[in-house]
Amino acid sequence: MSEAPELIRGLEGVVAAETALCDLDGAGGRLAYRGYDIADLARRATFEEVAHLLWRGDLPTKAQLDAFSAELVAARPIPDGLHAAFRLLPKAADPMRALQLSAAMLGALDPDAADNSPEANVRKAMRLTSQLATAICTHHRIRLGKEPVPPAKDLGHAANFLFMLTGERPPAVNARAFDASLILYAEHEMNASTFTTRVISSTLSDMHSAIAGGIGAIKGPLHGGAGEAVMLTLKEIGRVENVDAFVEKALGAKRRLMGFGHRVYRAGDPRAAVLRGLAEEACRLSGEGMWFEMAVRLHERVNRAKGLIPNVDFYSAPLFYALGIPVDLFTPVIVAGRIAGWTAHLLEQYQDNRLIRPRGKYTGPPRRQFVPLERR
Ligand code: CMC
Repeated sequence: MSEAPELIRGLEGVVAAETALCDLDGAGGRLAYRGYDIADLARRATFEEVAHLLWRGDLPTKAQLDAFSAELVAARPIPDGLHAAFRLLPKAADPMRALQLSAAMLGALDPDAADNSPEANVRKAMRLTSQLATAICTHHRIRLGKEPVPPAKDLGHAANFLFMLTGERPPAVNARAFDASLILYAEHEMNASTFTTRVISSTLSDMHSAIAGGIGAIKGPLHGGAGEAVMLTLKEIGRVENVDAFVEKALGAKRRLMGFGHRVYRAGDPRAAVLRGLAEEACRLSGEGMWFEMAVRLHERVNRAKGLIPNVDFYSAPLFYALGIPVDLFTPVIVAGRIAGWTAHLLEQYQDNRLIRPRGKYTGPPRRQFVPLERR
């Protein structure tokens, strides 16, 4: 084909849009949201502060944060219709499908459904962030045959999530670790799911539709689904003593090891370094230290043998497990963080939109004569 000059498989290295949200230095292994290093944000900020930073451009003052948090709290309840929809799903339904359904249904029921103005989209970003968290926990409890736990107005976003999931107020240390992990997942430049949301919004489709698409994209094991796959790998290994033999066999069989490797980071994923510390503490406190030890040994062995780095989904697996999050909720939890970044990207895309429409390189047969059905 003569019109499309160059084929770039997987769009590797292609710069598809401008963004003021995330400064990702792949060679240096550094990451900042609007100029703030993610290690500082994870240690010292809350998810609410980071959402404010992403949507509104800067960290909030105390008064701004109070007002902003109150808006997020007010947006937490989900419509009865969504509860009813969860009850119609088979108990075995994948929670990511329930989440995709949630995005679509919340879109249908949103008071700004027909309004694509910047003001309405900021309101939708806030509602989606609060409501998807409630939806994840509500669906989980309904599938277990338990009553949903209504959101607690006096808890922050992260603590409230754990409360709605378990019905118990989490220890402060767990809420803090979970808060930090939501921050670390909140934004990551032009990854596959964020790009998906931007592609959808570039047609001037609405925010909820874009988010439903993003949920579909992040679910795959090469993307956010890797965290769940890491935990299944650790369970498959079973004991620290089995790690070496597992690695030898897996690499010999050219098996793809989940939670390792990255398209952009070569020297190391800075999020993994923070998550490693969080996982160590959470595993120790919960008496699940074995998973952390196993993960560290796996990391060392795979890195030594193949030079692969652990990515964000590697140490988040033992962390989430130690926090009591069911393994098939790892990816929904990642969405609960990433929704802040997705929606911030959508606000950027709508503000300076250009339809995203690349070309394909044709590899089929040359032009040929049409043959009528009766002569084929
Ligand atoms: N296990 C074994 N080999 C690997 C892995 C891995 N996890 N990752 C990369 N490689 C090898 C790959 O086989 C290839 O080797 P060779 O050149 O000999 O064929 C080389 O490294 C380059 O790999 P690639 O697949 O061409 O690189 P990519 O940029 O397309 O892949 C990736 C990036 C993340 C898809 C890949 O590293 C992978 O599949 N990792 C496992 C899944 C995973 O952890 N995904 C989460 C990614 S980070 C969080 C997120 O995006 O949500």
